[in-house]
Amino acid sequence: MILPAIHTLTFIFVTLVVSTERAVTCDDRFNVQRLSCDHGVISVQSALYGRADRETCSEGRPQQQLENTECSQRGTVDVLKMRCDGMKVCEINTNLVRTSDPCFGTYKYLETNYTCFPAIHTVACEQSLAQLYCDAGQVIFVYGAHYGRLDRTTCSYKRPDSQTENVYCSNPSPKVAQSCNGKNSCTVTASNSVFGDPCVGTYKYLEVSYVCECK
Ligand SMILES: *[C@@H]1O[C@H](CO)[C@@H](O)[C@H](O)[C@H]1NC(C)=O
Repeated sequence: MILPAIHTLTFIFVTLVVSTERAVTCDDRFNVQRLSCDHGVISVQSALYGRADRETCSEGRPQQQLENTECSQRGTVDVLKMRCDGMKVCEINTNLVRTSDPCFGTYKYLETNYTCFPAIHTVACEQSLAQLYCDAGQVIFVYGAHYGRLDRTTCSYKRPDSQTENVYCSNPSPKVAQSCNGKNSCTVTASNSVFGDPCVGTYKYLEVSYVCECK
């Protein structure tokens, strides 16, 4: 007698949960768009400064300011990526993207889609060392590095307001990638002598995000 074999089939569902976050900021002189990741670091996917529909930021606006839905400024995504990729929190004043007027008379907004990318994130205050390291057999790949100041709280302990109030000191730097990529560990000094001084008088920090890859 042959018994039917009973197979237990195990289904394994592997779901990669990378949710896309979306930030919309209506165009006003003092508006600031804030992107943030609780886990991982920001990876900007797309950004629009202009208008792509009639609904977004339409409250209290006359029809003629909403009609043009094919308005977008070129290069916006690059500005966002340059400033925000690799950061945990990033604030961007709409002034920084308003470099020209892509559609005069249309009321515009800044819309950014981003994901939170799993990466190791480290901050070194000015004059201290950023230490990057991976497990044995793995090497560093730098995803983003900024030397400057993008918020008031990071590296602010016992610092006078005058040294922390400039939060528009953004200076993305390729230097960390140049000296650390492909190494198992790496040390970089957060100092003007390495990065230059992007904002004299401001107390700065080096913010680095990186991943460890198999060789
Ligand atoms: C952001 O994502 C939404 C939903 O997928 C999409 O409708 C929108 O066009 C995207 N925005 C940009 C600026 O790409």
